[in-house]
Amino acid sequence: MNKIIFSLILALMSINVAFAATGNAEAGKTKAAMCAACHGANGIGATDTYPNLAGQHADYITKQLNAFKSGTRVDPLMAPMAAGLSEQDMADLGAYFSSLDRTGGSTASNDGVTTETGAAAAVQVAVVYEANAISGKSLYELGDASRNIAACIGCHGKEGNSNVLIYPNLSKQHAPYIEKQLHAFKDKTRTNYAMNQFAGAMTDEDIADMGAYFVDTKAVAHIKVKRVVTIAAITEEAIAGKAKSAVCASCHGADGNSLVPMYPKLAGQHAEYTTKQLKEFKSGIRKNPIMAGMVAALSEQDMAELGAYFANQKPTLGNGKGSALGRKLYFGGDASRGITACIACHGTSGKGMAKAGFPAVANQSVEYLTAQLTSFKAGERDNDRNSIMRNVTKRLKQKDIEALAQFMSTMK
Ligand code: HEC
Ligand code: HEC
Ligand code: HEC
Ligand code: HEC
Repeated sequence: MNKIIFSLILALMSINVAFAATGNAEAGKTKAAMCAACHGANGIGATDTYPNLAGQHADYITKQLNAFKSGTRVDPLMAPMAAGLSEQDMADLGAYFSSLDRTGGSTASNDGVTTETGAAAAVQVAVVYEANAISGKSLYELGDASRNIAACIGCHGKEGNSNVLIYPNLSKQHAPYIEKQLHAFKDKTRTNYAMNQFAGAMTDEDIADMGAYFVDTKAVAHIKVKRVVTIAAITEEAIAGKAKSAVCASCHGADGNSLVPMYPKLAGQHAEYTTKQLKEFKSGIRKNPIMAGMVAALSEQDMAELGAYFANQKPTLGNGKGSALGRKLYFGGDASRGITACIACHGTSGKGMAKAGFPAVANQSVEYLTAQLTSFKAGERDNDRNSIMRNVTKRLKQKDIEALAQFMSTMK
């Protein structure tokens, strides 16, 4: 078992330490000569169909070149361009283009507005959707929780200037290019898990609005957009956490609903509690060899974002069968044996209390609940402040523990 777990950790870690060549901007400049015909000598696309590369994050450029080469991103013009590039070439090109100034600006596009006059043009205006830059800005900054569209700003930054290197800059990109990519993500001809979801929920009008916003983000900078509907609080933290949770999915499930009972569900758990556990796995106060490996590289900010993300997910039902004894102990404890009722801290429906640090226990798997109660009782898990849970479990018998787990798992 240990061997399996160990090789699993190694396999997971190797994803992060994949070889990355270091780029040389000087060498990249020479190699970029062949890109100039389309992307411009200064990295500003020659026409609307060629994206600006100037000032884009180097890692993002390298990643896209790899994708064009391997065919995971399909484009007839870029495939042959990338085919002959080595890892080193790509890194050099990334370093070069990222060093250029992103001042070229987006060339104004004709979204829904024609600059021509005359009868033919007038007819065109009548049938074309009038894209609205303010609607675009609103969707960009607030998202639409009712349709599961996350706020773009959470990843791509204010006005498209992202300071997180894995998220491409959109600022000053040609509007038609942005629209083309959103359509590509929508019909999945370009694949990226997050973007396929968000663009998939966007209508053609939303996409046109987003393009219109990027024609000139400064033009509507003074307009404050207001959230019209508040359904679920999708904070910037939660959005960032989603991307970071990808490495957790193999055990805890894509949305924190793990399919394997030995791995706890994280969906719907309080952010404060999850963050505390992650910190304690890292410092070793809570001991678990698998999780220690998972959290080693996480910063406090990562932990806060992961906590926020999982707190926003809806838990699926637990696998418990229910238990009369479990119910009795949960709600009433056992005064004769000095067992405190669990309800006092974990609440009437097992949702706990976020601020007090009492975790949700509802919907959790029987196996995980049993393991934790057993571990507290043995004192192996000792990260509970003031020994709260160690004292509670001290007097529980194995059959009480099993009964409680069967009951709590059915709470929702
Ligand atoms: C013949 C024209 C042409 C040439 C030459 C060309 N490209 Fe491109 N490039 C394109 C087009 C068109 C796209 C947009 C593809 C799409 O719509 O998905 C693109 C997209 C890209 C992207 C993705 C940009 C983004 O924001 O996702 C990168 C990176 C890129 N090219 C790098 C290069 C480099 C480096 C070279 C030189 C080695 C090069 N290109 C040469 C036409 C060209
Ligand atoms: C969870 C983070 C996240 C959110 C939220 C997000 N994106 Fe993205 N977006 C990405 C990532 C990552 C990529 C790069 C995908 C790749 O590597 O091909 C991307 C790529 C893009 C691109 C292509 C850029 C290029 O240069 O080719 C566009 C356009 C885009 N996103 C627009 C949006 C819009 C509009 C929204 C809001 C509706 C949005 N994104 C929300 C993460 C996000
Ligand atoms: C290889 C499998 C695996 C991966 C990947 C993994 N975990 Fe875990 N996780 C576990 C196991 C096993 C436990 C139970 C530990 C215990 O019994 O104390 C756990 C427990 C936890 C707990 C404690 C839950 C609770 O209710 O107290 C949190 C929080 C957590 N993991 C978060 C994460 C996050 C965030 C990631 C991604 C950064 C992640 N895990 C990746 C296996 C994994
Ligand atoms: C006085 C408050 C209190 C009482 C009473 C209490 N708990 Fe807890 N419980 C806690 C706290 C606090 C934690 C979290 C410890 C930590 O920070 O790791 C916890 C954690 C747990 C966990 C681990 C959750 C996880 O996701 O890992 C389980 C299971 C649990 N309690 C079950 C019970 C049961 C069953 C009872 C009743 C027999 C009970 N608790 C009574 C405060 C309490």
